Amino acid sequence: MENFVFHNPTKLIFGKGQIEQLRQEIPKDAKNILIVYGGGSIKRNGLYDEVVALLAEMGKEIFELSGVEPNPRVSTVRKGAELCRKEHMDFLLAVGGGSVIDCTKAIAAAAKYEGDPWDFVTKKTFVTEALPFGTILTLAATGSEMNSGSVITNWETKEKYGWGSPAVFPQFSILDPTYTMTVPKEHTIYGIVDMMSHVFEQYFHHVPNTPLQDRMCEAVLKTVIETAPKLVNDLENYEWRETILYSGTMALNGFLQMGLRGDWATHNIEHAVSAVYDIPHGGGLAILFPNWMKHVVDENVARFKQLAVRVFDVDSTGKSDRDTALEGIEKLRQFWTSIGAPSRLADYGIGDEQLELMADKAMAFGEFGRFKILNREDVLAILRASL
Ligand code: NZQ
Ligand code: ZN
Repeated sequence: MENFVFHNPTKLIFGKGQIEQLRQEIPKDAKNILIVYGGGSIKRNGLYDEVVALLAEMGKEIFELSGVEPNPRVSTVRKGAELCRKEHMDFLLAVGGGSVIDCTKAIAAAAKYEGDPWDFVTKKTFVTEALPFGTILTLAATGSEMNSGSVITNWETKEKYGWGSPAVFPQFSILDPTYTMTVPKEHTIYGIVDMMSHVFEQYFHHVPNTPLQDRMCEAVLKTVIETAPKLVNDLENYEWRETILYSGTMALNGFLQMGLRGDWATHNIEHAVSAVYDIPHGGGLAILFPNWMKHVVDENVARFKQLAVRVFDVDSTGKSDRDTALEGIEKLRQFWTSIGAPSRLADYGIGDEQLELMADKAMAFGEFGRFKILNREDVLAILRASL
């Protein structure tokens, strides 16, 4: 293992009816509260009314920023930060999926920053302070509810980048599986792909002696693989929603990467694809990940074999390690296809017209990835294999 320090200050509040905890968790002296939400799903399922009623009962002054886009935009971050400064906001409450939470993180930081938020998204400066905020999560996918990362898109320049800072860990996150029951099938599938991809990004590394980390990753993957097919056929089942919601948080809250650093190359390529085409993050990952795996399998065949045998139950008897490894990758593809995830860029009507542009976007900060460092040719090869 590598040396590590682990610190995650987010208070996780999980389970049915836990919204009541808002009464304790919103700071007593916070008067002006900004509720941040998306395109209206929380109005349709009643969560908006519940939140507003609770805050009103607590005597809070309520402000709103609605319409946060999936793949949230820096223009919305600017709007939110301006509102925070104008109305002297004390506390932010994100109510939604990863996009709403990511946007709230950027608003919280931008409200305390004199320049333009795009500066810290593009790492020209590092965020050291932010307004305090909490979240009520409505979609199991990103782990943003318990991590310090955020992904923001600049639609004018067609760029999408992740940034992060310890200053933007949520103070608390309320996770009630009931609120995820209205997530449509396709977004449920994308979320499942995303959380599995987060585990893969942390599983493929070259750090020696990580037996517990490996087993924890495999446990999350096995659990999701067992639960996902049941959930996509029974979207309002509380137990399956509960398991998937908890899995999504555990996949990217730092627990799996103690003592190692993940790869994250596929995420980088996916962000380039969705910057150019605005496709859902999980859909892009489903297309790209197996192709990244095939591209890098020879960096450590034994690790891919371990995944194939332990997670995808591949019988390795009489097979070479490489064949076993490749069979595991094929089983992943089959699994994602079986639950309804896309497998080719063509599924989104994407052809080879903008491959070079997507490669340029992916290379914006130079070569990337740790399991295998990818250059422009590698990126193009993975994109071509994904057509
Ligand atoms: O906008 P509304 O109306 O709320 O609808 C949303 C949106 O259309 C809908 N939805 C959410 N909860 C719902 C619901 N519909 C019905 N019932 C509910 N309970 O679902 C759609 C997608 O929501 P979104 O928040 O975009 O999805 P997700 O949570 O997958 O977030 C995706 C974003 O997170 C970034 C992605 O790149 C993408 O921009 N990521 C953030 C990460 C992080 N901060 O750690 C890591 C990830 O790898 C990822 O890159
Ligand atoms: Zn992701």
